[in-house]
Amino acid sequence: MGKKTSQWYKSHINDEYVKLANKGNWRSRAVFKLKEIDEKYNLINENSHILDLGCSPGGWSQYASKKCNNIKIIAVDLLEMEKIDNVYFVQSDLENFAENYLKNDTFNKIDLVMSDIAPNISGIESADVPAMLNLADIVLEIGLKSLKDSGNLLVKLFQGKGTDNFLDYTKSCFKKVRVIKPKASRSNSREIYMLATNLKSKKNELG
Ligand SMILES: C[S@@+](CC[C@H](N)C(=O)[O-])C[C@H]1O[C@@H](n2cnc3c(N)ncnc32)[C@H](O)[C@@H]1O
Repeated sequence: MGKKTSQWYKSHINDEYVKLANKGNWRSRAVFKLKEIDEKYNLINENSHILDLGCSPGGWSQYASKKCNNIKIIAVDLLEMEKIDNVYFVQSDLENFAENYLKNDTFNKIDLVMSDIAPNISGIESADVPAMLNLADIVLEIGLKSLKDSGNLLVKLFQGKGTDNFLDYTKSCFKKVRVIKPKASRSNSREIYMLATNLKSKKNELG
């Protein structure tokens, strides 16, 4: 194991959220980020239709499926994901998913689009921030196409050049946009989450 890898491994196994995830049989420590946001803003409810983008290994879908029995989740990732109740899994790249699946009517009734997608991180800000924004643009496009009026969008972002423009554009589409740094998000990471609530009516936009 290289020095960097062994440092990461040490801090990972000592991480309180990794310990909590193992104890609670959660598939990822990321579940605690969604849990904190959901407990404050009540995003996941019985009968919700949810799109979980960048879902693997499945912590977020697992949380939503455990919270509500009567829920429908479509989950998308490049990587495989083990089965979870109430979850229909699509193994696909985000861009292909946006091109191939969104024509289907199932994708017009979504209450919540949530994306924990992250690109492979290089550690170089000028590469990582644009790569994340590129994915976030596709997530926003998917959200605008698939969400019901008043639907909600939760998206992982990195702080950096261009992110404020992304937030400003999203503000023109939703009634409220918040930036959240959950406790489980590592303080030394650029990661933040954008929660955009209450999609403005698409009918008004067209009319
Ligand atoms: C941080 S993980 C998600 C963790 C998940 N929320 C959980 O709780 O288990 C990010 C995921 O994004 C996926 N991903 C990255 N780029 C992608 C792309 N272009 N299309 C689809 N999935 C992608 C990765 O394969 C990875 O599984």
